[in-house]
Amino acid sequence: MIYFDNSATTRPHPQVIEVVKRAMETYFGNPSSLHQKGLEAENVLKQARLVAAQYLGCKPSEILFTSGGTESNNAAIKGVAFQYQGRGKHIVTTSIEHPAVYDVCKQLESFGFSVTFLPVDRDGRVSVEDVKKAVRDDTILVSVMHVNNELGTIQPIAEIGEWLKQFPKTLFHVDAVQSFGKLPLRVKEWGIDLASISAHKFHGPRGTGILFKREGLIIQPLLMGGGQEGGFRSGTENLPAVAGMAKAIRMLAEEGKRDADRLSELTRYLREGLSSISGCVINTPAEGSAPHIVNVSFPGMKAEVVLHALEERGFLVSTKSACSSKADEPSRVLTATGMDREQALSAIRISLGRENTAEEVEKFIAAVREVGSMRSYMKEKV
Ligand SMILES: Cc1ncc(COP(=O)(O)O)c(C=O)c1O
Repeated sequence: MIYFDNSATTRPHPQVIEVVKRAMETYFGNPSSLHQKGLEAENVLKQARLVAAQYLGCKPSEILFTSGGTESNNAAIKGVAFQYQGRGKHIVTTSIEHPAVYDVCKQLESFGFSVTFLPVDRDGRVSVEDVKKAVRDDTILVSVMHVNNELGTIQPIAEIGEWLKQFPKTLFHVDAVQSFGKLPLRVKEWGIDLASISAHKFHGPRGTGILFKREGLIIQPLLMGGGQEGGFRSGTENLPAVAGMAKAIRMLAEEGKRDADRLSELTRYLREGLSSISGCVINTPAEGSAPHIVNVSFPGMKAEVVLHALEERGFLVSTKSACSSKADEPSRVLTATGMDREQALSAIRISLGRENTAEEVEKFIAAVREVGSMRSYMKEKV
């Protein structure tokens, strides 16, 4: 099987698996224990924090380990909302966020907060002007994702962050789950207060991630308890997973740029092939999109049917995002771009990873051509 679903998750790198295994065997102490085993474990965490901080260009104290992207997003948004509700109860976000942001904002609405969900253009990009117009005196948070997980569109994070610098009481959160390791994330330069990162998207272990939290920023913790992670995230640390994530980050530092360039090259090749297939519409913009995601539609065919036809030919892709792909309704993200229902219902996401090759892409294009040519048969199946 050829795996083209790297935005859903990636295969953990063998060296990451080795580090996790070694950490489980060797560093089993509780990092909070005062004896030798505890200190050893604490040291592993310290090293991992340093690796992450160096990669992000921040201080180790600005790195909080969490259980992944969903938790980091919840911790950032609810943490700011609950801490600063005395200042204001308005939040600005976009209509194309991952459910781990979108649904959190919906939940906050039910708690009495008011949320502006900004529209996007046909490429799935929010306008900086719209952000400027939406921010008010009582806006406590702006939350915009870096790379959209369905379309791959890159959002104007640097410009939004630059503009927001004049409003220090309006905090800036970025869901960087799909961009981390693929695109530069300049937390300091861009005035980012909080950023969410998830290890399983870059060949690290599942169930671990990072919340970058600017030094000195107070947020209400989601989890209370033993006071780990500076009191912002209680719970005995998942040390083996954190050690594995640090290994994956080290590998990004060494090979990430080269991998991203190679992915861009493969994606270009993939787009070229797909654009020559009749009835195949590329939804991901050619400019300003991440190096690993291509979203395509086959109007008249149901995405699920295309997905299974490709699976029969040995390729694993996805429809919508992995978390919501069971629902039989058009994607909220694609619909937000103004895409019609038929095109949105026939969309699949191809997401490449460091293990994919040009040969695999070539075979995939041939498979898509074959599936596309069965259009009238597929239509009947719908
Ligand atoms: C943009 C984005 N944010 C958040 C998440 C959730 O991350 P996790 O699976 O680590 O909870 C994902 C996962 O698909 C994502 O793509």
